Amino acid sequence: MSTVSLHKQGRIGVIAVDHPPVNAISQAVREGIITQINAANADGHIAAIVLIAKGRTFMAGADITEFGKAPKSPGFPQVINALEQSHKPVIAAIHGTALGGGLELALACHFRIAHEGAKLGLPEVTLGIIPGAQGTQRLPRLVGLPLALEMIVSGKPITAPKAHQAGLVDDLVKGDADALPRAAIAYADKIITDGTAPRRLSQMEVPQNGSEADLLAKARADATRKMRGVLAPQKAIDALEAALTLPFEDGAAKERAILGACMASPQSKALQHAFFAERKAARLPKHAQNATPRPFNQIGIIGGGTMGCGIALACLGAGLYVTMIERDADALKRAQNSIHKSLDENLARGRIDKAAHTTQGALFSITTDMAALSEADIIIEAVFEKMEVKKSIFRDLDKVAKKGAILTTNTSYLNVDDIASVTGRPADILGLHFFSPANIMKLLEVVEAKKTAPDVLATAMVLAKKIRKIAVIARVCHGFIGNRMLEGYLREAGLLMLEGATPQQIDKAIRDFGYPMGPLQMIDMAGMDIGYMLRKQFPASRFDPNAYRVMNRLVEMDRKGQKTGAGIYRYEAGNRTPLPDPAIDKITEEEAQKAGITRRTISDEEIVDRCILSLVNEGARLLEDRIAMRASDIDVTYLYGYGFPRWRGGPMFYASQRGLDKICDRIKQFGETVGTRWWTPAPLLQKLAQEGKTFTDFDAE
Ligand code: 3HC
Ligand code: NAI
Repeated sequence: MSTVSLHKQGRIGVIAVDHPPVNAISQAVREGIITQINAANADGHIAAIVLIAKGRTFMAGADITEFGKAPKSPGFPQVINALEQSHKPVIAAIHGTALGGGLELALACHFRIAHEGAKLGLPEVTLGIIPGAQGTQRLPRLVGLPLALEMIVSGKPITAPKAHQAGLVDDLVKGDADALPRAAIAYADKIITDGTAPRRLSQMEVPQNGSEADLLAKARADATRKMRGVLAPQKAIDALEAALTLPFEDGAAKERAILGACMASPQSKALQHAFFAERKAARLPKHAQNATPRPFNQIGIIGGGTMGCGIALACLGAGLYVTMIERDADALKRAQNSIHKSLDENLARGRIDKAAHTTQGALFSITTDMAALSEADIIIEAVFEKMEVKKSIFRDLDKVAKKGAILTTNTSYLNVDDIASVTGRPADILGLHFFSPANIMKLLEVVEAKKTAPDVLATAMVLAKKIRKIAVIARVCHGFIGNRMLEGYLREAGLLMLEGATPQQIDKAIRDFGYPMGPLQMIDMAGMDIGYMLRKQFPASRFDPNAYRVMNRLVEMDRKGQKTGAGIYRYEAGNRTPLPDPAIDKITEEEAQKAGITRRTISDEEIVDRCILSLVNEGARLLEDRIAMRASDIDVTYLYGYGFPRWRGGPMFYASQRGLDKICDRIKQFGETVGTRWWTPAPLLQKLAQEGKTFTDFDAE
């Protein structure tokens, strides 16, 4: 069966694209559409044409795997031309997602109908490019500048009903999966019967009312503010402006030129890396690829604090039963109130409707009796971060949980093998490390312990997908992938402060690099007491003697961060804006003096390199130690768990893009100036640098 087929249904020619999984518009699809459009136009029995796609979705865009390679003919302009210039009317019939080039092909058709559940969008900016198949020129002609700006600059798809309301689709189809092809034939029949002429969007003008210059200026300002450092949204606005000021052909030429420049930019390469990295992370390691996941629909959660409640909300949102266990009546009441308050807030803010609010409330139950977990399929422990407490819980679980239940811990740092060892079923145990707030944060580290069974790992990945998390598989070590790397990042921030940089300078340098907040702001937000207590559990020799001097002193002064109204910054009542505090400068100077450090002027470049390259070096060690399977998994961890700027692709991709030889040299330089204890290149980093390779090459080997 060819990728694009033509069959006749009465006087209608149906062109069907069949290129699983998402009907990406590869060279074969482009060629197939042109061939079949020409054939339909040449066929005297055909009076109208329907363009439809098979499988789960309409065309989801250009084939991203072709990006960066030599262009293969025919290109998009030829397909667009064939569709729009067809002398017989062409109707696009959309289900699933019409994205990017997929929507652009639909815009080149003369009419569009969509299933009510479909989504339509131009997400190109999320890949660091702009729509390049004349979407920036046709969309504003059809729906006007405001909606075109909204869709193209944000990259977010809109629903079919919204698209219908805006005139982007001409008719909305209700019903089951078969309803769309039937409706498309009926629609095409009516076009023929009514003698409706093809409507070619390139021949229309963009509707204007004099507010366009203001709209464009506002869009540029908003994009600068909300998408700091990201180029593609600004470029997309330039292309939309061309739709207002230039004839169609010239606007389309300008769009193509901008696309070419974007495509060659490091940002687009980083964003495309992020797209594929996210999908690769979901792949199971070889030994688990054939495992059959265990079925589940009942989740047990032990501990209804910050994390337990967040995890419960994520599970309820996915339609899973949740039984929560708290230790006493007071804690139970607190957790119960917290869950119901969050559900009420979700309803009030329109995140869920009344029916979902009722259902989710009914799926939730809470008790102090562990025996209530006897029917749970997956149990997630989220009690205090103390090994003895966790072990005692797992001993109890071993008695209570049914055979085949999966027992997991949300520990941030503790050894999952040790926790598993107290049970008679270590194969059923793994770590599920959620991030706070667990109902919002996308990342989930799935920690495979030494004895975790392959089907247990596979089940965890299914659970992650079901509760809409991006899962990354890690193995057991202190802090797993994310928090182990974070140690160096925070250490450097602490040292830089002592060596002469102000907290404001450090945080600004990291924000300018692209993070939403700097390391010291983050520490204040999380609370310094957690790290303080954690450090006390380990021998002091594990840490840099100077890195936490200031923080330790602040905790002992009860300046723990935002929650105590002061930390590294000061805060005004009811306000979370970090304000510089001269008291901190004084404390820092005193601590530097005690440590025998002569303070100096530090450049922003040094701040960024010390914080970010410490991540990279530790990331390389994680790969050597096989804690992380792929460098791209480390990138995904940092993109979704720690706010690393997506347009830089993640720490490992960033390092590869800069050149691993340069990264190695810089680390050696710091070894000479700051000391070799933390600044010696990881052997893997040195090896790749010497071989002229990147972390992407490492992943491919
Ligand atoms: N090109 C190539 N492969 C693609 C692809 C694309 N446009 N979109 C998805 N795939 C692949 C994925 O990599 C994945 O491969 P894998 O199974 O080997 O990992 C497979 O298709 C399934 O994808 P998902 O796991 O993402 O499936 P979902 O059902 O969760 O999501 C989707 C489907 C919403 C369509 C999602 O895949 C998506 O958002 N795709 C990208 C859409 C996009 O960005 N389109 C614009 C492309 S740029 C463009 O069109 C330029 C034009 O203006 C010229
Ligand atoms: P928390 O202190 O907010 O909540 C812990 C809850 O467990 C409390 O409600 C307590 O009453 C309950 N509890 C204690 N012993 C219990 C027992 N024997 N039976 C039933 N309930 C019991 O702690 P938080 O922040 O929710 O952390 C929980 C776990 O999640 C810890 O292991 C922590 O390291 C980990 N974690 C925390 C993150 C965070 O940002 N807070 C992020 C990721 C993981």
